[in-house]
Amino acid sequence: MKDTTNATGSGNQPVLLRMEGICKSFPGVKALDNVSLTVRAGTVHALMGENGAGKSTLMKCLFGVYNKDAGHIYLDGKEVSFKTSKEALENGVAMVHQELNQALKRNVMDNMWLGRFPKISKWCPLTSESKMYEATKKLFDELDVNVDPKTVMSTMPVSQRQMVEIAKAVSYNSKVIVFDEPTSSLTEEEVEHLFRIINMLRDRGCGIIYISHKMKEILRISDDVTIMRDGQWIATKPAKDLTMNEIIKLMVGRELTNLYPEKDNVVGEPLLEVKGLTAAYSKLRDVSFVAKKGEVLGIAGLDGSGRTELLENIFGIATRKEGEIYLHGKRVMNRNARESIKNKFALLTEERRATGIFGIRDIQANTTISSFQRYKVGPFLSDKKMSEATEWGIKAMRTKTPSQRTQIRSLSGGNQQKVILARWLLTEPEVLLLDEPTRGIDVGAKYEIYQLILNLAKEGKTVLMVSSEMPELLGVCDRILVMSGGQLAGEVDARTTTQEEIMALAAKFA
Ligand SMILES: Nc1ncnc2c1ncn2[C@@H]1O[C@H](COP(=O)(O)OP(=O)(O)OP(=O)(O)O)[C@@H](O)[C@H]1O
Ligand SMILES: [Mg+2]
Repeated sequence: MKDTTNATGSGNQPVLLRMEGICKSFPGVKALDNVSLTVRAGTVHALMGENGAGKSTLMKCLFGVYNKDAGHIYLDGKEVSFKTSKEALENGVAMVHQELNQALKRNVMDNMWLGRFPKISKWCPLTSESKMYEATKKLFDELDVNVDPKTVMSTMPVSQRQMVEIAKAVSYNSKVIVFDEPTSSLTEEEVEHLFRIINMLRDRGCGIIYISHKMKEILRISDDVTIMRDGQWIATKPAKDLTMNEIIKLMVGRELTNLYPEKDNVVGEPLLEVKGLTAAYSKLRDVSFVAKKGEVLGIAGLDGSGRTELLENIFGIATRKEGEIYLHGKRVMNRNARESIKNKFALLTEERRATGIFGIRDIQANTTISSFQRYKVGPFLSDKKMSEATEWGIKAMRTKTPSQRTQIRSLSGGNQQKVILARWLLTEPEVLLLDEPTRGIDVGAKYEIYQLILNLAKEGKTVLMVSSEMPELLGVCDRILVMSGGQLAGEVDARTTTQEEIMALAAKFA
């Protein structure tokens, strides 16, 4: 058994939370094997590890979502074992979950107060709307969150909904706050905002547990870092003593010499031509470009510059006002997703957790749902063919799952994404539109996905890839289009350009 007595960081602040020897199994998976974690008051403790390492599960054991099989949890020196999230919240532990779970038809303040609506008075059990409004407004002002408490959730962008969730966690005045990948759908500005909130909480003496796959964030915001691998505790160290490479090595368990595979794809004839694309309901305007066979074409730009809109317009899920699309020199209409899939386009959306996952179905159904014609034998679907395709997906993405009959919602967040990516690859597209393909994916698995993208290019496909991570665009793409304020600001050669050149173009019409 591993000695976890060193699971404490280095500072001398008092210990606030101590988790010791936590074990948790699910059918076929030992998700946590004797894991320990010590969080000191007034510090940010980062929790890192590959997809499926057990980070979310450890936090759910703390938060009363799961019952741990073994181990002890001490809060302020007293042993606790929360049976429900409500109990955890009442005892000073709050959590922002990796998957948003909000009542979308209700407004912001309803969501803030769900389960603890303020009463009109001690004697009147009715909910006081005005108290709710006032309290929400006060908290938002304090946190600088610029949202009207009466806005209906479904009308807000995901990033704002995430900020509401963060404010809600803060509103419980908790001692310990867990953030499970809070920034995966935030804009850069919002990340800065969140960091200001976290620093304020740290100054108040809270213990923050912060889960993220973004190394730079981790090194910037955290005091201590705990690394997990395959359900086990691997190391806890002060962040200042760690480099990105050391973290990667501890996470993956081996040296990762290259972050990007070799670009050995050969760019050929023009395959896709887009002419004067203008959207009906967004600021996307007059975008023209040519993408070639075997090419990986990056799309860079700031948040809101129209990158996602461009992909959605090509795929026909956003309304076009003007513009034409040609494939192999032949005009295609791509009026809706179904027509686009028939024309051999595929789109991996940015918000796959919200739009792509059939939660109650298993991995096989989620993998094969968009490529049924491949598995037909006469009027029937061949189980064998479907299970072979699913097996291919699991292997190609290195998806961590006990079997292909496992329900997708029981996979870790990153592994769910890999299933959705496999789904689109199985439609055998000629043009692959990828919106932030590696968001929420750990470093090791990112490499596999880059390799997959390059292999597709080598098979003669065209890949358009939106990413906010500049090194990733430079590492994988042949050319990069830079969007700014809804327009195409320029085009650069990924082999010779610099981050500065791209940034300058991104600011052109912003
Ligand atoms: N409710 C569940 N039922 C069955 N298995 C589960 C359940 N929750 C988690 N697991 C399994 O436990 C393991 C750890 O998952 P966990 O969600 O904790 O990973 P993670 O470290 O948070 O990964 P990610 O970075 O992808 O979010 C995975 O193998 C996952 O499939
Ligand atoms: Mg997780």
